[in-house]
Amino acid sequence: MKLLVTGGSGFIGLEICKLAIMEGYAVVSISRSGRPNIHEDWVDQVEWVSADIFEPTRWKTHLSDCDAVIHTIGILRERKKEGITFEKWNCKSAVVTAECAQTFQVKNFIFLSASSAPAILSGYIKAKRRAEQDIASLPLRSVFLRPGFVYGFHRPLSLAIAILMRIGYFLPFLRGFIKTYYPLPVKMVAQTALQAAFRDDISGIIDIEGIKRLTTSYS
Ligand SMILES: NC(=O)c1ccc[n+]([C@@H]2O[C@H](COP(=O)([O-])OP(=O)(O)OC[C@H]3O[C@@H](n4cnc5c(N)ncnc54)[C@H](OP(=O)(O)O)[C@@H]3O)[C@@H](O)[C@H]2O)c1
Repeated sequence: MKLLVTGGSGFIGLEICKLAIMEGYAVVSISRSGRPNIHEDWVDQVEWVSADIFEPTRWKTHLSDCDAVIHTIGILRERKKEGITFEKWNCKSAVVTAECAQTFQVKNFIFLSASSAPAILSGYIKAKRRAEQDIASLPLRSVFLRPGFVYGFHRPLSLAIAILMRIGYFLPFLRGFIKTYYPLPVKMVAQTALQAAFRDDISGIIDIEGIKRLTTSYS
C-alpha cells in the first residue's frame, strides 16, 4: 500500500510518515524543503520529494499507484505582502491536491482541517471549511480531521501550552473555550489520520472526540 503525505516534513506530517513506515506502507512526502534533518532509521525509508504544492507538474506523478493521500499543508499566520494567504495555503493547496489525486484515481483523501479558530483567525477556519466543502464534492472518499491544539516533542513549546490548557480545563470559566481546542498528542492525530486513510468505513468529519475514540480502537 502506498501513501502520499503532503507536508510530510512538518510537525504532524512527520509523525504520520513515521507511523506509516512502521506500519509497512510505502510513503512519499511532498514539501519544499524535502528531507528533514532528523537522524532516525525510518527517515531513510520515506521518499522525500522537494516540490512546491502549487506546481503540481513537479510532484503529481508520485500519485501513481497511490492508495491514499493525507494533506497536512496549512498555515496559522498570513503574510499577505508575500502572497501567503489562508485562502491559498489552507484551501487552494488542499483542493489542488485532491483534484490531482482524483486524476490519478487515488480513492482516499484525508484533509488535516481544524476544530475552530478565535475570531482574530476567522480567515484561517473559513478557508479550511471552504476546502472541506470543495473536496466533499469530488468523487473521492474524503475524511476531514478536525483536531484542536496538537502537541509533541518536536515542538517543545506545545508541550507547555498543552499542560496549561489541561490545567485550565478544570476552571469552569475556561472549560468551554478549552474544550473547543482540547490538546491532543501528535501521535494520536497521526494514528487517526492513518486509520482514516485505510479504513473504508470512515468518511466525513472527525472532531476531537472522534479522534480520541478512533485512537482507542487503533491496534
Ligand atoms: N499544529 C496544530 O496544533 C494544529 C491544530 C489543528 C490543525 N492543524 C492543521 O494541521 C496541518 C499541519 O500542521 P503542522 O503544525 O504540522 O504544520 P507545519 O509544521 O507548519 O507543517 C506544514 C508542512 O507543509 C509544508 N508546506 C508548506 N507550504 C508548502 C508548499 N507551498 N508546498 C509544499 N509543502 C508546503 C511544510 O514544508 P516546507 O515549508 O518545507 O514546504 C511543512 O512540511 C495544518 O494544515 C494545520 O492547519 C494543526
